[in-house]
Amino acid sequence: MFDSLKEELRAAKNKDPAARSNFEILCCYPGVWAIILHRWNHWLWTHNLPFWGRFFSQISRFLTGIEIHPGAQIGKRVFIDHGMGIVIGETTIVGDDVLIYQGVVLGGTSLSKGKRHPTVEDAVVIGSGAKVLGNITLGNSSKIGAGAVVLNDVPPGATAVGVPSRVIYEEQKTVEDLNHDFSDPVASAIDLLLERQVELEKQINILNQKLDIEKTGIIRDSEIEEVFKEVDE
Ligand SMILES: CC(C)(COP(=O)(O)OP(=O)(O)OC[C@H]1O[C@@H](n2cnc3c(N)ncnc32)[C@H](O)[C@@H]1OP(=O)(O)O)[C@@H](O)C(=O)NCCC(=O)NCCS
Repeated sequence: MFDSLKEELRAAKNKDPAARSNFEILCCYPGVWAIILHRWNHWLWTHNLPFWGRFFSQISRFLTGIEIHPGAQIGKRVFIDHGMGIVIGETTIVGDDVLIYQGVVLGGTSLSKGKRHPTVEDAVVIGSGAKVLGNITLGNSSKIGAGAVVLNDVPPGATAVGVPSRVIYEEQKTVEDLNHDFSDPVASAIDLLLERQVELEKQINILNQKLDIEKTGIIRDSEIEEVFKEVDE
């Protein structure tokens, strides 16, 4: 239990640049309280005490402004920043290392029972005010823009924004994959000019040799061929 608490605190510290100490996080972060209380409520829900799970989840909502249904499955190191106005429905599945900002709804679109809420895979970021609705999947490491309304699956690594949401970026490359070109642009321009100069010198050479042949009056096909052969090499 203490290991899990430590993980929640570490997640808050890693994901909120404003967080300073574990003590501060424990005292001032309703998002962390909501997750800790949810662990307890989920335990009650899955141990045949659904009323108490619901009851304490409402107490948690009263304290934090964050409503997480006790049936929702929440992974490790999930961090809710700022809290307030968040709703996470009963059949929602949230993976590890997810970051959720204020005003996010992970809700259902159908009144039928069964899986009707989103599945959020690992390391997803859901921007403030985003509404993610229905039994859809937000792929690993995807990002949902603030204020988006997401009604369809979002592929892993993609960024979706807008109402209804559209994917603006496909899978983001990792820093290692990016392979930035940090070469000096002036040096690159000079290299290009030098290459061009060599080309031009070759052409001038051809013309000079042609002129020489014409001047000396020796216009033998074999000699011209030889000149071109030399230039080609
Ligand atoms: C979606 C998001 C992750 C994209 O960030 P990014 O990869 O840096 O993207 P950019 O800022 O380069 O924007 C790319 C395009 O998407 C648009 N865009 C970005 N965020 C948007 C949003 N939330 N809604 C609508 N359009 C958005 C930009 O206007 C831009 O459009 P353009 O190419 O036509 O100019 C980010 O904008 C976002 O919304 N993050 C949520 C942060 C949050 O909720 N913080 C709360 C802190 S309390």
